[in-house]
Amino acid sequence: MATLASASAPGPVPVGAAVPRVPIPAKGVDYRNKIVLAPMVRSGELPSRLLALKYGADLVWGPETVDRSLIGAERRVNPRNGTIEFTRMPSNGGRPNKPTKESVIYRIDPAREKGRLIFQLGTANPELAVAAARVVADDVSGIDLNSGCPKPFSTSGGMGAALLRTPDLLVCILETLVKEVGEPYQIGISVKIRILSNPEETEALVSRLVKTGITALTVHCRTTPMRPREAAIRDQLPMITSICHQAGVACVMNGDVTSRDQGLALMKEYSVDGAMIATSAENNSSCFRTKEDGGLAPWREVVYEYLRFCIESENRLGNTKYLLNMLIPGKDKEFKDTKLSKTYLDICRGLKFDDLLPAAAGLDQILGLDDKWEAPHVTSTPTQSEPDTPAQSEPKSKAVQNAMESETARAAGGGAVRTKAPLPAVHGGGPIRRSSAPQPAKVTQVDAEQPAVEAPIPAAQTEAPSQVTV
Ligand SMILES: Cc1cc2nc3c(=O)[nH]c(=O)nc-3n(C[C@H](O)[C@H](O)[C@H](O)COP(=O)(O)O)c2cc1C
Repeated sequence: MATLASASAPGPVPVGAAVPRVPIPAKGVDYRNKIVLAPMVRSGELPSRLLALKYGADLVWGPETVDRSLIGAERRVNPRNGTIEFTRMPSNGGRPNKPTKESVIYRIDPAREKGRLIFQLGTANPELAVAAARVVADDVSGIDLNSGCPKPFSTSGGMGAALLRTPDLLVCILETLVKEVGEPYQIGISVKIRILSNPEETEALVSRLVKTGITALTVHCRTTPMRPREAAIRDQLPMITSICHQAGVACVMNGDVTSRDQGLALMKEYSVDGAMIATSAENNSSCFRTKEDGGLAPWREVVYEYLRFCIESENRLGNTKYLLNMLIPGKDKEFKDTKLSKTYLDICRGLKFDDLLPAAAGLDQILGLDDKWEAPHVTSTPTQSEPDTPAQSEPKSKAVQNAMESETARAAGGGAVRTKAPLPAVHGGGPIRRSSAPQPAKVTQVDAEQPAVEAPIPAAQTEAPSQVTV
């Protein structure tokens, strides 16, 4: 492995000297002194981000979203939970007879993510980058450019780590984003890169990037060919940090950061401004909690909180199951049960989270999963107003019946029906709820990597999650 050759790199800012700082835009956020959740396709959807924030993440990155999937998306507020959804109709791959269902490309909680959400963009084109970033710019605190994904689906389109080999294009995209999105919307533009195997090349690249007007640079301390299981290499960090600091740009380190406590120690050791956690958060988001505040929580506690957020966010079941498989230890019986579950009701019953059953049933209705219920699965579902009601023997609870009635009314042409029983809130202090607003039609939700727009979307968006090790 090449060693650090930073003879020409600027030295540390002398003690007492004024440290320059790129101004943080009015609606942006300073990445300094932050332990943050990494961008993760599939694992970085809204419920995971809310979970990370609950356990103490200072900022959260959303999953990489490719420019074309967002351009033309419609923004709307979900009347049931107040989340902002960016949706679009799928092209259906040219099959006119296939029923089309709206797809949710990206979802934001404007209350709990306020001032803390960074949107990550996958792009290889300045114009497309600007067009896509403008769609979400009013609802996020920063736009981050993915320049580190090594997978062929990304690099073959010239995106991700391919941008490390086309520095002129990378610089051009960042400069254009700063001018056309960062300045008018008053949010920060940042970039996430990997180290190059030759430190001089990293140095040359970073020296250019920090002059583009970005407010922060995250460095994943692995080279592009390195596998995720290979240990991160940190010997280029002092050089990178030094260049960032000379330019007043915040430097965030990434790679094998496993907890908040460890992240803070590494920040001190390497004089970096922030630390980013990916896989450790995927396995147990309570890694953001300091030891002093309780440290790592048992998996059942984390899974319970995660499911509450999933139900509240109306998360797509497939995505919920994907992360549950990460959070639940493989040997547990619950792991196998969850894998086989076809509805939220099944999952909550399997995990014995009885107080979540009414909300789970309500969400199944909204997502159109209720036809997969098996009668014995709908038993103990106390309503919110009757929290202590013992297990019911009727096949359907009050909450389920109410949800069904409102759905029937809507289907009958009721349009702006008032829901008798809005999806029971399962978490206090959430976004503004407007339960009396009209019920929108059922929606299909897709992960950011699987948008419904088939034709123009690069293959990046259709990879299986296990293949996504960006
Ligand atoms: C499931 C998964 C999805 C990822 N998706 C993205 C992504 O969308 N954008 C990105 O820049 N990096 C992505 N990464 C890489 C992580 O952000 C991070 O750089 C990497 O996992 C190293 O951090 P760690 O050692 O804490 O895992 C992903 C990683 C994983 C495991």
